[in-house]
Amino acid sequence: MAEVVIVGDSGAAGTLVAEAIVSLIEERPDAVLGLATGSTPLPVYEALAARSQGLDLSRVRGFALDEYVGLPAGHPESYRSVITREVVEPLGLVPERIQVPNGAAETIQHAGADYEAAIQAAGGVDLQILGIGTDGHIGFNEPGSSFASLTRVKTLTEQTRRDNARFFDSIDDVPMHCITQGLGTILRARHLVLLAFGAGKAAAIAAALEGPLSANLPGSAVQLHPRATVVLDEAAASELQHADYYRYAYANKPAWQGI
Ligand code: GLP
Repeated sequence: MAEVVIVGDSGAAGTLVAEAIVSLIEERPDAVLGLATGSTPLPVYEALAARSQGLDLSRVRGFALDEYVGLPAGHPESYRSVITREVVEPLGLVPERIQVPNGAAETIQHAGADYEAAIQAAGGVDLQILGIGTDGHIGFNEPGSSFASLTRVKTLTEQTRRDNARFFDSIDDVPMHCITQGLGTILRARHLVLLAFGAGKAAAIAAALEGPLSANLPGSAVQLHPRATVVLDEAAASELQHADYYRYAYANKPAWQGI
């Protein structure tokens, strides 16, 4: 079972997760971070940027979870652009050390295998940040994704395209396809940190953490991981059956354990 930590708000979640990342980087200056896009991880990146003075980030490496297929290079909503704008620049990471799956049409046939090889060559991901979609997807692994899946091209659901239309002029501009780390890829990371905020995520979180393991709910894959931490605000935790137990367990956890 994942460790569930319920905090007051997304700012507190950002601080908590940023502290865990700082400890990791202090211990391993060339740590490999798994970077998620979307609005959920932003408080983590902001807290990390605020905390980064005196921290050497020059050797940190990173792999993004996913990318749209077919957006023109440099499109502001490509995840390459988003990761550059929201993570690489504010944190002063070395751009060459941060990889994003290649969604260019010309190389798409081997882009998945190339990405898997790059992650393996880096020694794997130390800490993978994750958000969750309202339909329970993680990365862009839509319902039906195999728990053994590796980086590959997927077709986005209408729901995800609707959810992400806010970043584009209209839903018609949201690409139909994406390339995403698979659930199997994500499960290889040494530590998973899944974040969710707001009532809109409550049902997906309850199903992912307390429902049956099912490819129908890709987020339930976190139940298979030996070290998964789930950080929620009260609203995202509001449908959890065992919320009181999670609070009790966390309140009584020895401080030295961190998350
Ligand atoms: C996108 C991303 C996911 C993200 C999800 C939720 O589909 N591919 O990685 O977790 O949206 O986004 P948000 O955090 O903005 O709710």
